[in-house]
Amino acid sequence: MRRLNRYIWVLMLLPWLNGCREPGTLSRNIPVGIDPSDLQDDRTHQGIYMERRDRVLSMLDKGYVILCASDRESHNRHEFRPNNYFYYLTGIDMPETFAVLSDVETDHYTLALPPRTIRSMIYEGAPASAEEVKARFGADRVLEDPDFRSWLTEILSSGYPVYLDGSDHSLVDRIQHLAGKEVPAQFRHIGELVDEMRVIKGSLEVQRLQKACNITAEALTRVMEACTPGKYEFEMEALIEGTFRSYGAAMPGFASIVGSGPNSTILHYEQNMRKMEDGDLLLMDIGAEYGCYTADISRTIPVSGKFSAPQKTIYQLVLDAQRAAIERMKPGNMFMDGHLAAKEVLVDGLAELGLITDRHSPWQIKFYILYPSSHFLGMDVHDVGEMGGSFSHFMQHTPGDSIISRVLEPGMVLTIEPGLYFRERGLEQLPEIFGSEADSSELAAFAEQISPVYEQYRNTGVRIEDDILITADGNLNLSRYAPREIAEIEAIMKQE
Ligand code: GLY
Ligand code: MN
Repeated sequence: MRRLNRYIWVLMLLPWLNGCREPGTLSRNIPVGIDPSDLQDDRTHQGIYMERRDRVLSMLDKGYVILCASDRESHNRHEFRPNNYFYYLTGIDMPETFAVLSDVETDHYTLALPPRTIRSMIYEGAPASAEEVKARFGADRVLEDPDFRSWLTEILSSGYPVYLDGSDHSLVDRIQHLAGKEVPAQFRHIGELVDEMRVIKGSLEVQRLQKACNITAEALTRVMEACTPGKYEFEMEALIEGTFRSYGAAMPGFASIVGSGPNSTILHYEQNMRKMEDGDLLLMDIGAEYGCYTADISRTIPVSGKFSAPQKTIYQLVLDAQRAAIERMKPGNMFMDGHLAAKEVLVDGLAELGLITDRHSPWQIKFYILYPSSHFLGMDVHDVGEMGGSFSHFMQHTPGDSIISRVLEPGMVLTIEPGLYFRERGLEQLPEIFGSEADSSELAAFAEQISPVYEQYRNTGVRIEDDILITADGNLNLSRYAPREIAEIEAIMKQE
């Protein structure tokens, strides 16, 4: 009996042990696991994709959806990565495969395999047979060349609406080439049917996003341990992306932003070439992509391991703003409520510091608050779905005031990423940026008044970004394992 008890304990501890035993995680206990079996397609996963296809089919009123896994070049990446709409509806990651959904045909779900050539057998490994693919992915039928080509020609001549991924610019050409016929100019974008489905994440999607976030948190923590003056930004980038891969993430979900000193003030700095110096901040905005879902987490750390007093002031202000925002991110509130809460904290703090002289001045606020603090997250880093607050829309308005928004619902995943950036030549750029909104004497007076304070923060850029799942009664911070408090970061960086 005693022995049985011991076995039960061991069994209960297994998931925890599994989370802890990976290299480098013993002390911090971030539940990353190397085992990628959670990516294997099984019956449960196939059920999820089937349900999605059924929803799309029920929205079609006599029509066709043509999806392609994409060819090897179309993503401008070094390796194949499936098209998001294709993968969302099929769960298949085989290059150059087509999927057709239709409520016109008796076979609602058809897959078409790329031609089996001697070259593909030698260079890419023997492709699965039609029978294997049919059984594994639950297709009603599988077509191969030339049957698929002639069927495509029939579809394009049928007069029924055809939905395609309008954001894949080479797709129309590829379909025309295969069918030997023009795709009707008025084809419709598959996003009309699928984007809103993608906004509400199911459990498999949350599971993948959680793992992507855990791997990213692990990478950020490793940088905190390794970062010192004299190292290069790209060494940190290599550590980050190497960590992603070491836990089974296929690739970064977007180009890693690893900017130190002046580069921390450039929102999308991606060169990552500078040698870091004592006294710099290092801003990292990164995300591992796991099972086609990407994290998007930003952390800002002091290169030397200790924040200076001015860095602390700005960091704490951004952190307070982010915290106020996260409290507002719950069902029933609006998409932009988090942003507006963050903006209020930032504007108050900036005014107190003497960096804003008139807290009702739209251009003074826009000088510091550069973008809406949230976007949807999922298969795309800026994921699909109507949300308002796009960058161009944002810049034309007083931040937050008349921006379209939408109600938050359980299952949505969005970032919250307030930041403050004191560009080297920020004050000199005022006339160029706000010349049409304020007269030159007003801009000059502002620059003169705030200049002594601005000087203390020059070349300081701070962004803190987390990934928030809206739940039935509030939210869950999926990136909670990435250290964020000043004391926490300094403690990790002090370790030998
Ligand atoms: N991670 C980059 C962005 O959100 O724009
Ligand atoms: Mn982001």
